Amino acid sequence: KNERTFIMVKPDGVQRGVVGDVIHRFEQRGYKLVALKMLQAPRALLESHYEEHKGKKFYEILLAYIGSGPVVAMVWEGLNAVSVGRKMLGATDPAKSEPGTIRGDFGIVTGRNIVHGSDSETSAQREIALWFKPDEISQWTHTA
Ligand code: CMP
Repeated sequence: KNERTFIMVKPDGVQRGVVGDVIHRFEQRGYKLVALKMLQAPRALLESHYEEHKGKKFYEILLAYIGSGPVVAMVWEGLNAVSVGRKMLGATDPAKSEPGTIRGDFGIVTGRNIVHGSDSETSAQREIALWFKPDEISQWTHTA
């Protein structure tokens, strides 16, 4: 199914210089980049983005981490973008991620796991609407 997913390079990924690699992997796989921006996320946006984790032990640590520097927020489109995107990211805990995945190649701890990817199409739609205005999402097509 053709769908969109929200992928974000977290501040540790930006700091470590893996933005290009993350983009390259999605391009190579055949996904289409339809939105991208770099920003230092305000607290209110992070509270909305991570509302399902509110009250958990790691919640404040998580918000401090994601708010600690700029992130690169993206929307990628294509066949099964949500589930394939999650596979490309690897497990939430990088130590459990297979080599060949983004986290499996670059990460070692859950608290610094480099990238975020939507976990369902419902989450993807919610996250895309949070991070992007409709006119920030491109409708480009290839010409033959
Ligand atoms: P992600 O799956 O993108 O979204 C939730 C994030 O919470 C997760 O990545 C981690 O960055 C973070 N997280 C989840 N569990 C823990 C934990 N036990 N300690 C610290 N951070 C966590």
